Amino acid sequence: MTHDATTLETDPMFATDALAGRTILVTGGGSGLGLSMTRKFLELGAQVGIVGRNAGRLGNAIDGLESGRDRVAAQVADVREPDQLESAISTLEDELGPFDSLVNNAGGNFLSASEDLSPRGFDAVVRTVLHGTFHASQSIGKRIIERGGGGSMLNIVTTYAWTGSAFVLPSAAAKAGVLAMTRSLAVEWATYGIRVNAIAPGPFPTEGAWKALMPTPESQEQARWKIPAGRFGEPEELANLAVFLLSDASRYITGECVTIDGGEWLGSGGEFNHLTRLPREQVKDLMRKMR
Ligand code: HXC
Repeated sequence: MTHDATTLETDPMFATDALAGRTILVTGGGSGLGLSMTRKFLELGAQVGIVGRNAGRLGNAIDGLESGRDRVAAQVADVREPDQLESAISTLEDELGPFDSLVNNAGGNFLSASEDLSPRGFDAVVRTVLHGTFHASQSIGKRIIERGGGGSMLNIVTTYAWTGSAFVLPSAAAKAGVLAMTRSLAVEWATYGIRVNAIAPGPFPTEGAWKALMPTPESQEQARWKIPAGRFGEPEELANLAVFLLSDASRYITGECVTIDGGEWLGSGGEFNHLTRLPREQVKDLMRKMR
C-alpha cells in the first residue's frame, strides 16, 4: 500500500495502445490539467486535437511533448464563441480525422466576493465553463450522431459543483450546470452510443488554478491541511482516471461523476473529522480518558 504518488511513474495502469484508434478533442489542452491529459492520451496511442485561446501557449505545449507529436494538432478558439469553436473543430478533423471523444476541460475562475462581481466578470466564468461545455459537446455530439454514433465525453467539474463554495459563485454555479448537463446528455445520447461522464477533482497544482486561487504559500498550506490524504493530487492521477472513463474499459459507465480529491470534500463535513488532523495517539489518549 502506498501513501504517496511516487510509484505512479513505474506502475503504468494501461497498455501502451489503450487509446489507439481514438481521436480526442481537449478544450484548454495547451496548459495545466488539459495538457497533462493530452500528454497521457498521446502516450497511449490516441490522436489529440487541442483548442485554446492563446496561440503561443498551444505552440509551446506541442513543442514540449515527448511523444506523439505526429498525432496532435492545435487550433486557436475561445470556447465561449460557437462559430470560432466550430471552425477550429472542422480544421482539426480535416487534419486528424473525425473526433470520437471530447474532454471539456477549459475553465476560468477567480476569487471574488459575490457582491463585488461585475456582470462581465460573472459572464467571463459562466460563459467559459457552462456555455463552452455546451458548445463543444453539441458540436462534437452532432458530428458523432451524423456519422452513426459511438463516442465518449468527459466533463471536468469540481466538488463544489454540489457543495457550492463561497467566493467562487460563478464557477460553482457553472460547474453545477455542467454536472446537470453530464447527467442529461448521458441519458439523451445513450441511444447514439455516446457516454458522458464527469470528473470532480479537488485541488491539483497547476499554474492557472494556483495563480487564480492559491497565490500564497499560506493559502496552499491551508488547502493541503483540508485533505485527509495529506497531499495535493498529481496530474498523472487525474489523467489515468480520464483514460479509464474515455476508454472502453468503462463502456457501461455513463452519467457518472467520479471524485478525485484525496477525501477532501467528505473530510470537510462530518462532525468528528477534525480529530483526524491531530496525532492519532493523542486522539486515542483522549478517547481513553473519556471512557
Ligand atoms: C475580479 C475579475 C477578475 C478578478 C477578471 N475579472 N478577473 N474580477 N477579480 N481576479 C473580470 C474583469 O474585471 C472583467 O469585468 C471580466 O472579468 C472579464 O475580464 P477579462 O480579463 O476581459 O476576461 P477574460 O480574459 O475573458 O477571462 C477572465 C478569466 C480568465 C475567465 C477569469 O482570466 C481565466 O480563465 N483566468 C484563470 C484561469 C484559471 O483559473 N484556470 C483554472 C481554473 S480551476 P469588467 O466588468 O471589469 O469589465 C477551476 C476549478 C477550481 O476553476 C477547483 C478548485 C478545487
